[in-house]
Order: sequence, then C-alpha cells, then structure tokens
Amino acid sequence: MKSNGKAVLTYGDGKSVDLPVYSGTTGPDVIDIRSLGQTGMFTYDPGFLATASCQSAITFIDGDAGLLYYRGYPIEQLAQNSDFMEVCYLLLNGELPTKTQRAAFENNIRRHTMVHDQLTNFFKGFRRDAHPMAVMVGVVGALSAFYHDALSITNAEHRAISATRLLAKVPTIAAMCYRYNTGLPFMYPRNDLSYAANFLYMMFATPCEEYVPNPVLVRAFDRILTLHADHEQNASTSTVRLAGSSGANPFACIAAGIAALWGPAHGGANEAVLKQLAEIGDVSQVGKFIARAKDKNDSFRLMGFGHRVYKNMDPRAGVMRQTCHEVLNELGLHDDPMFKLALELERIALEDDYFISKKLYPNVDFYSGIVLRALGIPVSMFTAVFALGRTVGWITQWNEMISDPEQKIGRPRQLYVGPAKRDWMPVERRG
Ligand code: SDX
Repeated sequence: MKSNGKAVLTYGDGKSVDLPVYSGTTGPDVIDIRSLGQTGMFTYDPGFLATASCQSAITFIDGDAGLLYYRGYPIEQLAQNSDFMEVCYLLLNGELPTKTQRAAFENNIRRHTMVHDQLTNFFKGFRRDAHPMAVMVGVVGALSAFYHDALSITNAEHRAISATRLLAKVPTIAAMCYRYNTGLPFMYPRNDLSYAANFLYMMFATPCEEYVPNPVLVRAFDRILTLHADHEQNASTSTVRLAGSSGANPFACIAAGIAALWGPAHGGANEAVLKQLAEIGDVSQVGKFIARAKDKNDSFRLMGFGHRVYKNMDPRAGVMRQTCHEVLNELGLHDDPMFKLALELERIALEDDYFISKKLYPNVDFYSGIVLRALGIPVSMFTAVFALGRTVGWITQWNEMISDPEQKIGRPRQLYVGPAKRDWMPVERRG
C-alpha cells in the first residue's frame, strides 16, 4: 500500500487529529484510524460495513462494477480457462503454475487425500440424519487433534503441509458426511482421478460396480469450486482470520470458518434458495413472495438475492447460470421446472423497483443450488460443497494473515450502553 495524504478529524472543542490515507493497487482508499486512541474515542461500525480489517493481495471485488479478481485474474477468465487445481495454486502461490509446478502441486495433494482411519470413529457419534455442516465442523475440527504437536504456525513449511492436508482431506470428509447420512460405505479416494472427479466418485460410487464420472458434470463441478474459492473478507473468512490471529491450530480455524459459512445469510443461502423455490412452487406465486420480500414488517428475504458488497450482478451468478444450462442440457433436464422458475423469478425481481432501487441482484448462491441438485447432490450437502470450494480461500487468507508483520490478535472494541456502576444488593432488598 502507498501513502496518499491524510484525513483530518475535528472533534470536541476545535481539536483535530490527522489520520493517514493509504491507496492500494485499485479500489477505495483507506483511512488509518490506529492513532484514534489519542482522541479517547473509537470508531463505530457494526458489521464492519466500512472497515478494512487488513491489507490483502489475494482477491479483489468491485461491488459497483460487479468485478471479481483472484490475484488479478477476472473470475470469468479463470472459470473459462483454468481448472480448480490451477486456481488453488494461483491463490496459494500468487502466480499461475507452470506445467511442472502444477503437476507437482496436484501430486502432492493426491498423496494426502486419505484421512486417519480413526477419524471414521467421529462419524459414529452423530445421528445418521445429522446436518452435514454439523458433521463437517466436528470432523474438520477433529483434524486438529491429529495434527497439532508437530505443527508450528510460524514455520512456513508447516503451514504449507497444513494447507495441503486441508485441501486434500476436506473433499474426503465432505463425501464421508453424505455417505454417513445415506448409510452407504465410505469410498476411499482415487488418486487417478482429478480433484472434482474424485469428489463425485467418493459421493456416488459404490464398491459393487464401476463408476465413471461424466466429464461434462465433472467440468461443471470443477467450475463451481473455482467460483466459490475466495471472496475477500467475507464473514467466514474473517472468522478464520480472527481465530487464526490468536495462534490457534489451523484445522480448528477452518472448522470455525465452516461454522460461520453455515448461516443462511452466508453460505447456507444455496440450500435456502432451493427450499424457497420449492415453497414458491409455481411462477404464479412469485408475486406473493416478491411482495413479502418488499414488506418492511416481514423479515422474509428472497434467498440468493442481495449482497453486502455487490450492488451489481455477482459475476459468479452469471457463470453459474451458464453452467446450469450446460448441466441441465447434458442431463436432458432443460425443462427443469425449478430452473425455469428460477429464471422467471430472476427476471421479475430484476424488473421490480424495490430490487432495482436497493441494487439487489442474484448472487453466487442463486443458481448454484439448481446445478448441484442436477448433479445429484442433496440439498443438505449444498453448503458443504461451498465449504469444499472455499477451503483454499480460507487457508490462503489465514496464511497471509500469519505472514503479515502488521497482524496482531484481533480485538474489536465496543460502545458500552449497559448499566452505570452500582453496588451489590442483598436478596432481601431486591424486587
Ligand atoms: C454469500 O460476503 C460475501 O462475500 C459472501 C459471499 C461469499 O462468497 O463469501 O458472497 C457468499 O454469502 C452470498 C450472500 C448469500 N445470502 C443470501 O442470498 C441471503 C439473502 N440475502 C440477504 O440476506 C442479504 O442480501 C445479505 C445478507 C447478503 C446482505 O445483507 P445486507 O448487507 O443487510 O444487505 P444490504 O445492506 O445491501 O440491504 C439493503 C436493503 C435492506 O433493506 P433496508 O434496510 O435498506 O430497507 O435491501 C434489503 C435489506 O433489508 N435486502 C433484501 C435482501 N437483501 C437485502 N430484501 C429482500 N430480499 C433480499 N434478499
């Protein structure tokens, strides 16, 4: 970042404080408020809508223009030309890999896809109908018990092996969650398959017969992982950074990120979109739900619409819609009523003054659920798939935070509005 003058804060009886302004490569400048303490005041920004928590070189979003870049490369170009392994290398290392680098990276991941055999015992503690995200939080968190003593987060090589283990094992664990739910035996990973094909294999193969993943569906799934890989300082990434800022075990930090992602306002939205489309049921009911979304007295929100940063179309939603077409055509489902309902809901919403005035556009979650359902992935697994794609982003952001000389343990302040000092009262005098 580079200095770009200052902002002057005047306060109290004519006092003022100079606050440095910094510029990044692109995007909004920031005001450094670290010296604000001298004023005896804090900033107040619930939800951190106007607060940069760090400087980062990983992902850039321009919400007004609807742009998303991973290490400077537009998401549309990566979705079209790269695959998820290449995107993982790019995010983690900052540059697109050469052929040799990519081969070594992918081979290293493949050598860590199996989980410790004792990890399977953790599943037995869950009910068969436990939500996959509850299981993911528990089992990924449990990895911290298997990889703790030999791990020093200040050692770059240890951080790299943790990144490899997480990237390699999260698909295996996610597939195990599905298999446990369905009562099917766990399938061992197959290292002759690509990352995306291996996940579909572990999800849908059985020991009784050969399973050959459909290349069109594999390509679509691989693209979905790319679209979900990273997204600046979103709620789950900020959770991983905050947990990591205390020096916690990286596997435990990723489990915290999975927990944050689960919420329907965040990664849980893809599951909520499908449930909402099923509740709407028919195009004739769309108006009723749009009216509820507009009603200030109704907490109802149209899932898959709106975004904290994007005030234009989420570029991932456009790629996801195209992927939807490809998958449904490949499967002969182009007349899928759910997809047609989604297209109609998008058209109506984008013409409605409320959505136009509040700049509410479809986000990445609006179409992802329809694609995942067409791939045979159950609704309850949708957010687990989001976590699968986002793991590389969480690890990259965690690694950047640990390596950042400016980083300290995160410790936001508050505006206290509770009772003033008062003395304890014996029970006889209460009430
Ligand atoms: C993800 O941060 C990330 O980057 C997240 C993510 C990632 O990759 O990590 O992009 C993934 O989480 C995408 C978002 C998925 N969530 C949903 O689709 C759930 C539905 N959307 C909303 O709950 C909402 O839009 C949020 C949570 C996403 C954003 O909430 P904000 O910041 O409160 O939205 P806003 O400030 O832009 O809202 C402006 C207005 C508000 O009304 P007013 O208070 O101004 O009267 O629009 C309203 C909101 O009430 N609004 C909606 C709405 N979303 C916002 N009204 C109806 N339906 C909606 N979906």
